[in-house]
Amino acid sequence: MVAGAAPDRADESVLMNILGLSAHYHDSAAALIVDGLPVCAVQEERLSRRKHDSGFPVAAIDYCLTHAGLDPSQLDAVVFYERSLLKFERILTCALRAFPRSWRSFPHAMRNSLGEKMWVRGIIASHLEVPRQKILFTDHHASHAAAAFLTAPTREAAILTADGVGEWATLTAGRGRCEDGHAQIELQREIRYPHSLGLLYSTFTAYLGFAVNEDEYKVMGLAAYGRPTLAADVRRLIRRTADGGFAIEPEYFEYHTTAQRSYSSRFVDLFGPPRDPYDPIDLDTAEGRRFANCAASVQQVLEELLVDIARDLRRESGLPDLCVGGGVALNGVANGRVLAESGFERLFVPPAPGDAGCAIGAALYADRIYFGNPHREVPDHPFWGPEVDAADLTRVAREDGQIFDQFDDGALVDHVAAALAADAIVGWMDGRCEFGPRALGHRSILAAPHSHETRDRLNRDIKNREGFRPFAPVVPIEVASRYFELPSGGARLGRFMSGVFPVRPEWRDALAAVTHVDGSARVQTLEQAMAPRLYALLQAYGRKTGVPILLNTSFNVAGEPIVTTALEGYSTFRRCGLDLLVAGPTVISKRSRSTDEKEAPAWQSGSMAESGAV
Ligand SMILES: [Fe+2]
Repeated sequence: MVAGAAPDRADESVLMNILGLSAHYHDSAAALIVDGLPVCAVQEERLSRRKHDSGFPVAAIDYCLTHAGLDPSQLDAVVFYERSLLKFERILTCALRAFPRSWRSFPHAMRNSLGEKMWVRGIIASHLEVPRQKILFTDHHASHAAAAFLTAPTREAAILTADGVGEWATLTAGRGRCEDGHAQIELQREIRYPHSLGLLYSTFTAYLGFAVNEDEYKVMGLAAYGRPTLAADVRRLIRRTADGGFAIEPEYFEYHTTAQRSYSSRFVDLFGPPRDPYDPIDLDTAEGRRFANCAASVQQVLEELLVDIARDLRRESGLPDLCVGGGVALNGVANGRVLAESGFERLFVPPAPGDAGCAIGAALYADRIYFGNPHREVPDHPFWGPEVDAADLTRVAREDGQIFDQFDDGALVDHVAAALAADAIVGWMDGRCEFGPRALGHRSILAAPHSHETRDRLNRDIKNREGFRPFAPVVPIEVASRYFELPSGGARLGRFMSGVFPVRPEWRDALAAVTHVDGSARVQTLEQAMAPRLYALLQAYGRKTGVPILLNTSFNVAGEPIVTTALEGYSTFRRCGLDLLVAGPTVISKRSRSTDEKEAPAWQSGSMAESGAV
């Protein structure tokens, strides 16, 4: 960790306020740690409403400080999630090495770096008016490692981080330990740019016509439709090295020499012409199947490499637990295989393993490792964002002439469960919003899990997205293995939807809307204490239908971030095919005052606010 000047080591009894920041690359975020525990964490996009907002997280910082009632002068440290000067050095070094081929990308890289990355300390100091010596920097992968290990309910674990690239590292391996109440993290090994699992996958993401750093999960979804017929060719791009690492073959890539294209003409010679992003993928054509096979092949090679590396780490560390961080940890299929095949008994992936999660990781790293404050167990949930205000929803619904009802908790879950059983699609807002890319029950769209029609209606009328992308199920953790083939440790991996597992064959028809084409599902295994209202809804739905499982997808439409406030939920509800909107005790059904009540489905009670069943 690097500081402007080393601050005094804190006395263990001193309460510290530490703000962690991730910005200027992808998915900016802020997180606040008070007295060793997270108080808030939120991505800038959820507040600015610009998807993947990478700007300085002004709104996220403001939320964190306002929520905690703190003035910037009360911050003991502001921690940036990577060492921007080292990152600049990497960009400069690679551009010079590749000169003159890099001359086109060089000004672009310099503009980006000089504009923001280089001057982070000044930007933070001027935005927050904090003394420069309070501004600290962590290594990018130390932030990933801290986000994974220091939030996991384990005292000792191996750590594996993998992403596109940080400063120089693209993958690190090490271990974390809590001893005598203090945490330590040691990252003993690293693999450096341009050798990168994340960039290998991103190169295929670009080649397949998807957006790099955003659509990698589409490659994973598409992989299930293909066969890994090109895996041998993918293995020509990346090879294992004698020291247990891997190396790419640079002639197949261009990401290290130009910002224009990540793959080279030799790559195209090997795999054929790339997909035009504007051409739909038609799996009935040879071309469409070739793209699906490409996706399946890179997915398989990624899995093989991760399983191999994790297996080595298991053997070297002798530890049963593994904490995984970095954007590669969003690949639930690979996580499932690592758990099943590496020998680790438990795998912990935080709800935000990517760069946004580095905000919380950087702050925790500073607290535990740099300041040496005592370790405290971090609450095991993802709900660190703004709270939904149900009164806002009631007000706007009334102003807009919408019918709404209000219920106590028991009546509400019965009412919504009945609607879901009658095939309603429900916008569900509850409490504080999730930190990380996945809706885990506080900003979710919920639907019955059984029919293709529901899935198609969601894709067509609400999410406006490609038909090949699967939806996820949520199930009470106690009964998860009745429906899904979970390996030992699988229920834990499903806590934040971090693993993909087979649906038991006998349940695939009954769970058609959440079963991917290869029979798998990215299941969320819900513990009651984490989201009690959703848990109660699953139970109520199970009593009505016999299967306590719901389809759970993020509450947003294509191109927009997940909703945060009640007003954003309401606006989305009005613009798409949702049938019901729920926030706190309030339920709105999509029907105006003038709708003929005789035509209303059973789940529309038709009562007005003033006569609601409170
Ligand atoms: Fe990263």
